[in-house]
Amino acid sequence: MRVLLTGAAGFVGRIALDLLNERHDVTAFDIQTVEGCLDAIEGDVLDYATVEAIMEGHDAVVNTIMAPNPTYGGSGLGFTTNVTGAYNLLEAARVHDIQRFVHTSSGAVHEGYPRPPETFLTHDLYPLKASGPYALSKIVQEELARNFHQQHGISIAVIRPWGIIDSERMVTTDGQPVTGFHWGAIDRRDVASALVCALEADSIGYECFYVMATPGGYKATDVARTEERLGWKPTITFDEDL
Ligand SMILES: NC(=O)c1ccc[n+]([C@@H]2O[C@H](COP(=O)([O-])OP(=O)(O)OC[C@H]3O[C@@H](n4cnc5c(N)ncnc54)[C@H](O)[C@@H]3O)[C@@H](O)[C@H]2O)c1
Repeated sequence: MRVLLTGAAGFVGRIALDLLNERHDVTAFDIQTVEGCLDAIEGDVLDYATVEAIMEGHDAVVNTIMAPNPTYGGSGLGFTTNVTGAYNLLEAARVHDIQRFVHTSSGAVHEGYPRPPETFLTHDLYPLKASGPYALSKIVQEELARNFHQQHGISIAVIRPWGIIDSERMVTTDGQPVTGFHWGAIDRRDVASALVCALEADSIGYECFYVMATPGGYKATDVARTEERLGWKPTITFDEDL
């Protein structure tokens, strides 16, 4: 497939680029330079004309763009980047008749529930509840995606990780040291492989998939269903319970 990977310079995106390159014809897009990818396109997802231009000629989109953590709330651009950025990508995908869209959301769509979150499964995972601007932006992104599926028939798979880490270097996406495992822990390699599995999966209308790699993550959410539906499994697991 000809795949547009957005956020390709990121913590997850850079790994996804390597995995996708093994099996697909990939265009990397990011506002920053993508290390080791000379033909990556640099641009801002908030610039709709750019987004529509780069979308041409692709069969699928894999979106991993996220605004940096300090930019949420107040006058920061974080919420706008996530929400308007996702809208721009979905709208340009519609214009170019792209049939498969894979979006990276977050377990934070449940952040408004009490912790520990055994409640997620007893609430049957819905309704979603945010507790801040980042989580709210992820819920709005999901709502946009669901609507584009309903209105325009685009097949959309949404991946929901929670605490993504690099377990080799023991750092988070912000480069902070990991001092203990969260029950929602997952290695960035396994998030990237879930994106590839979602891209290649059959019969997806609009579907959300939790990806976590701890016993607690399996208790709180339906990761087991993700394994069954996507033929995906985390290769690195952690012991943390709820
Ligand atoms: N990191 C976590 O712990 C975590 C947890 C759950 C979900 N997620 C989700 O996973 C996805 C990937 O997260 P990550 O940790 O790789 O983030 P990241 O910040 O490492 O990567 C995001 C990329 O988006 C790019 N970007 C930001 N603004 C842009 C813009 N205006 N135009 C174009 N590109 C832009 C950045 O340059 C960066 O390379 C995001 O959707 C995030 O919400 C992350």
